[in-house]
Amino acid sequence: MANQIVEAIEKALADAQVRLAAATAPDAVEAVRIDLIGRKGLLPALSKQMGSIPPEERGVTGKAFNTAREQLQQMLDAALERLNSAADADAAGIDLTLPGRRVDVGHKHPVVKVIDECAEIFRRMGFMVAEGPEIEQVYFNFDALNTPQDHPSRDPGDTFYFSDGRLLRTQTSPVQIRVMESHEPPVRIVAPGRCFRRDTPDATHSMNFHQIEGLYIDKNVSLADLKAVLRNFATEMFGPEVRIRTRPHFFPFTEPSVEYDFSCIMCGGKGCNVCKQSGWLEIAGAGMVDPNVLKNVGYDPEIWSGFAFGFGIERLAMMRYRIADIRWLYENDVRFLAQF
Ligand code: PHE
Repeated sequence: MANQIVEAIEKALADAQVRLAAATAPDAVEAVRIDLIGRKGLLPALSKQMGSIPPEERGVTGKAFNTAREQLQQMLDAALERLNSAADADAAGIDLTLPGRRVDVGHKHPVVKVIDECAEIFRRMGFMVAEGPEIEQVYFNFDALNTPQDHPSRDPGDTFYFSDGRLLRTQTSPVQIRVMESHEPPVRIVAPGRCFRRDTPDATHSMNFHQIEGLYIDKNVSLADLKAVLRNFATEMFGPEVRIRTRPHFFPFTEPSVEYDFSCIMCGGKGCNVCKQSGWLEIAGAGMVDPNVLKNVGYDPEIWSGFAFGFGIERLAMMRYRIADIRWLYENDVRFLAQF
């Protein structure tokens, strides 16, 4: 008999639970309360049957009533709470059924990602990161870099000048001078940053672009050291299958000067439209630091020697992410940028 009463109590609670979950208004909650613990409710009716059960079972049954009352009160409170907060939201004009507002999380621009990646690769080879100003003096951008007065890159048709004679740096090479003037050798730095040239924009040219400069000054540094560093960089950046080659070139601040090519990462060197069927992509200018440059910063070229190199960051980014047009990097179109 007692077990039957306990069972009936449990069933009443389970039913109440279902009804409360479905309740959409406080009236429905009140109805559940009346049905269960109202004057003519289920629990009072059941408790009337207590008299007919054997005394030794009354304790258990009584306990079941007490816990049922407590539980029911908690269920009723929770149901009312739920309906009230929905009503509050409603009154405040908030529609809880609307989807949430998405927060778009930004990320690094592909140019910045490549700069970070390069800096990390060179950091592992012992290079520290240095920086210089984008608005630069002619002295640092040209003169101290051994650039002859009649060198075409000085022309206002190629370089942006300010009326006070300063300019927007055309390369990151002036950072070489700034670092050497303020530090005693040995020096091992890379200097990423923005550069500017008066170019007409097309698929591979932008008036505003980035380079990463490298400078290594020590005793007994040779072209073989430069080659090893660039070989290692190519492997870290594009994998061991990428081949590198050097071609003789001219820069005022290096002697000898070379240009580094990487085998085309699009076609593996077979020839495609990206490498213009040559199988190679121009990737960096480099060379042994000209003794005149060392003299300009007060280093003794009889003791110290070194190499320098400069990569075009956009070039690397375009290879890395297979981007066909440099201008896409500067249009701020999120449909493009979100892909990286
Ligand atoms: N500054 C050169 C350029 O912009 C690249 C370079 C850097 C070449 C360092 C040699 C050494 O073309």
